[in-house]
Amino acid sequence: MLNTTDMFVIRSGKLVLENINLRINQGEFVGIVGPNGGGKSTLLLTILGILEPSKGSVDVFGHNPKLVNFNGNVGWVSQDAASIPTKMRMTVRELITLGTLSSSNLFSFRRKKNNEVVENAMRLVGLSDLAGMDIGRLSGGQRQRAVIGRALASNAELLIFDEPLVNVDREARNGILKLLDDLCHNQNKTLLMVSHDLTAIRQSAHRVIYLDGKIQFDGSPSEIPDLSGLAGLVGIQHVHAHGKREDEQ
Ligand SMILES: Nc1ncnc2c1ncn2[C@@H]1O[C@H](COP(=O)(O)OP(=O)(O)OP(=O)(O)O)[C@@H](O)[C@H]1O
Ligand SMILES: [Mg+2]
Repeated sequence: MLNTTDMFVIRSGKLVLENINLRINQGEFVGIVGPNGGGKSTLLLTILGILEPSKGSVDVFGHNPKLVNFNGNVGWVSQDAASIPTKMRMTVRELITLGTLSSSNLFSFRRKKNNEVVENAMRLVGLSDLAGMDIGRLSGGQRQRAVIGRALASNAELLIFDEPLVNVDREARNGILKLLDDLCHNQNKTLLMVSHDLTAIRQSAHRVIYLDGKIQFDGSPSEIPDLSGLAGLVGIQHVHAHGKREDEQ
């Protein structure tokens, strides 16, 4: 489903990713961890075709992501996606319906099919009961689930999430992780999730990649080396502190 071969990425003259070799299969739930500036978001942007490797290659569904339009086959939730402006008057159903704009089922019976897809996405993220609620009145965790629901409404096969758990409390976090796990197991979706939350990654991902310019580790969560010994964890703590500071403002 996703391959990179000897991939290097340079941003503004700086080598950010070096010699990345990855092979990700359908149905895998891959957690990506690493220090701030380690290149996690850069990797996701390269997979999405927004950045281009300076050397080596990336292909998604067998194509160069820079050259093809995936037409809703790839769903993306950005870093801090739940901070959508709460002044925007929009219901949960309307927000999730926006996800269908990028789906591939464009023409015939579109509207009817869209309705089903939206209801299904709301059910998957557990927001059916709140369908008519203004997104400004949702809790942080509910808003995060709504944003994930929007990505699901595109019917994407490959889901790419950059820090989907930031600002989500433990209970909501566990609900989201369970949902993501179900999506991989029961719906055969493929999921790439960047997170600084090692506990979350350990308990849910099938595979963990530790990225710090290069891939430092790629394997089962039960085999992660003691990351507390790696400089990365400093970065990990820093992000949490930073998140809190932003919260308090
Ligand atoms: N638009 C940009 N132009 C040039 N360099 C950039 C740009 N964005 C990021 N970088 C650099 O690329 C490197 C990797 O950044 P990236 O955002 O991929 O890291 P990250 O692992 O996602 O970090 P974080 O955990 O803070 O989100 C950093 O050194 C950063 O300064
Ligand atoms: Mg990032």
